Amino acid sequence: MEFFIDGGDQPAFIAYPITQVFLLFILLLLISIELIISAIENVMFQTLSSEAQQRYLNAETKPMISFKWLRNLYLRLLGHDQKRPEEAIELDHNYDGIRELDNNLPPWWVYMFYATMLFGVVYLVRFHLIHDYDQTQEFEQELAQAQIDIENYKKTAKNLVDVNTVSLLTDASDLKAGKTIFENNCVACHMTDGGGGIGPNLTDTHWILGGGIKKVFETISEGGRDGKGMIAWKQSLKPLEMAQVASYVIGMQGQTPANPKAAEGDILWPEELPSLEKAKE
Ligand code: HEC
Repeated sequence: MEFFIDGGDQPAFIAYPITQVFLLFILLLLISIELIISAIENVMFQTLSSEAQQRYLNAETKPMISFKWLRNLYLRLLGHDQKRPEEAIELDHNYDGIRELDNNLPPWWVYMFYATMLFGVVYLVRFHLIHDYDQTQEFEQELAQAQIDIENYKKTAKNLVDVNTVSLLTDASDLKAGKTIFENNCVACHMTDGGGGIGPNLTDTHWILGGGIKKVFETISEGGRDGKGMIAWKQSLKPLEMAQVASYVIGMQGQTPANPKAAEGDILWPEELPSLEKAKE
């Protein structure tokens, strides 16, 4: 029903109550088929000679595959002693016909009980006598592991960076990727060497919008002042790509471009060159 009828976000048999009638009909059909078959079987059975009937019954009751060992194992685990008659273990009280048998405890239960005792001894020695470790230590260990996991996750999920978490990338591969992004998107206004054109000089210490990896990332992501021409790149670049190109831009600090544009902006960063340590802020 669910396969063939689309009930939207509800199960089909609730969305279309008529299908319930259909299911009920199928059920009745199956029951009547069962009844008819057993009636036919009965009629045919009556027509057999009594010897054939006996043979038929024997064949009927013999299971196709016999799991005798499985059954025996099961009985042994239950502690059933089949040879002992019930009268031997019957207790001598009888309440309104309700009698009680003095069965052995089932071995599966007894063994489990022994196991808990063993566990208890090991636990007692390990945690109350030797003081292996306690809950606080266990908690701190898990916390430290979680911290490591988070770090690893961040490494594989570099695209999670945003303006608050971005840091200067120094891997050669990241800077190379940043260079490619810069050459594909930014040179029209900032020149290949960052000397500037429509956009400001990126190699000097003067910034209109602010220097440092976080500010540069923000400028690239959100764009410059309205109407100046620097668009918000977050539409077309992924966070990691913006971090790469921002790191590449930071790396241009202090270089001497062929045609440097006059310095613009009142924000000084870094205060003196080349102190790229600051870029890591
Ligand atoms: C259409 C021209 C244009 C393109 C393309 C362009 N920019 Fe800009 N960029 C500008 C202008 C204009 C400004 C100055 C914005 C302002 O004054 O608000 C600017 C400012 C900046 C600043 C801030 C400079 C400062 O002094 O604060 C950075 C960093 C920057 N761009 C990086 C990039 C990067 C990286 C790319 C490529 C992904 C890029 N720009 C592409 C025109 C452009």
